[in-house]
Amino acid sequence: MQGKRILLVVGGGIAAFKTPELIRLLRKEGVAVTPVLTRAGAQFVTPLTLSALANAPCHTDLFDLTREAEMGHIQLSRAADLVVVAPATADLMAKMANGFADDLGSTLLMATDKRVLIAPAMNVRMWDHPATQRNRDTLVEDGVLFVGPDEGDMACGEWGEGRMAEPEAIVEAIRGALAQTLPSLTGEAPLRLPPEAVIVPPAPPQPLRGRHVIVTSGPTHEPIDPVRYIANRSSGAQGAAIATALRDLGAKVSFVTGPATVPPPARVEVIRVETAQQMKDAVETALPADAAVMAAAVADWRVTNAADHKMKKDGSGNPPALEMVENPDILAWIGHDERRPRLVVGFAAETDDVVAHATAKRLRKGCDWIVANDVSPETGIMGGAQNAVTLITDEGAETWPRLPKDEVARRLAQRIAQALEDAPR
Ligand code: C5P
Repeated sequence: MQGKRILLVVGGGIAAFKTPELIRLLRKEGVAVTPVLTRAGAQFVTPLTLSALANAPCHTDLFDLTREAEMGHIQLSRAADLVVVAPATADLMAKMANGFADDLGSTLLMATDKRVLIAPAMNVRMWDHPATQRNRDTLVEDGVLFVGPDEGDMACGEWGEGRMAEPEAIVEAIRGALAQTLPSLTGEAPLRLPPEAVIVPPAPPQPLRGRHVIVTSGPTHEPIDPVRYIANRSSGAQGAAIATALRDLGAKVSFVTGPATVPPPARVEVIRVETAQQMKDAVETALPADAAVMAAAVADWRVTNAADHKMKKDGSGNPPALEMVENPDILAWIGHDERRPRLVVGFAAETDDVVAHATAKRLRKGCDWIVANDVSPETGIMGGAQNAVTLITDEGAETWPRLPKDEVARRLAQRIAQALEDAPR
């Protein structure tokens, strides 16, 4: 944990007396702690205690931060590797679950883009109250990690569930969250924490579990000689995002990729190819599949007379004549093959009359859907982070807003899951 940074929000509960010990343990592990004390928290522990133990300023006021100019609340909320709330009171949980941001702590929790781990602490009846349990469920769904609460004697004299987890247990939960060993963070890594110590958000629904999807991606390289080739500007970003989104919905993905500039996703079967012919062979080998998404920008032609040695200028001033032949159209082939997956999705990168061309392409290539986009250079789509697509199905054309490629991929994966919903496995 050495060198990791934690933003620690301290809520107003008697359990705040354990928070200085938590800071001490974290500091011992080499973790940098930035404390944030709520107004109620300051009734139980002083900013001075927290800042002295953390050896860092303790923030208490939203408006101080805006004055400070050195670090605004947005920056503060994102500078950490993990945000921890200890103790997380019933009130703080309610604020988090409902999106209130009326003081520094709750504002940071809304503004952060990091994982949040909370250690609830409250009276057993407050914990058991349907409102708190509802908030707990909402937070679990939102991806918030929990450590505790434990069962035991309470400061108020009652006994039950609601005690804040011990500082040591919180440190272990932080270690797990930082090491990303929680199944919710990695999708598969082993759970290192005692299972009862952490409530892990439920696994997202996996409607594509048991489905096999082939995704082609990236450009192809068609050799001219051993060192030269014909290529295109495809980065492979959209294909990789689609493979990731399908994987996250539970699909087994065969990712057939040309020499792309973005890395292939983790936890998919990666089959690297160079040429269109190799891509077709790899797709054929990967069959059968429930769906195929052909996102690759396959070169339409290859050189028939590719030299087996590096071509040289012959002094005549005449360039070599390259003879070209059409490459196999992988999409059209799979769209008409007897082993055709139930759902075949093609792409159409066009520069003019996008919908008309793509609609014709859908029929010609025998695919169910075409994801059409305008790749005119002024759109910045090819090689860029965003995409503006029109989905063409047998029901017509549906234009999506301009979205990050990841979001286009998630929407497409959802649609694929819906389309396969009733298909036999
Ligand atoms: O004909 P066009 O290249 O515009 O078609 C684009 C669609 O066809 C994409 O889905 C692409 O992956 C696929 N395609 C293919 N094999 C080719 C050419 C295109 O699979 N040789």
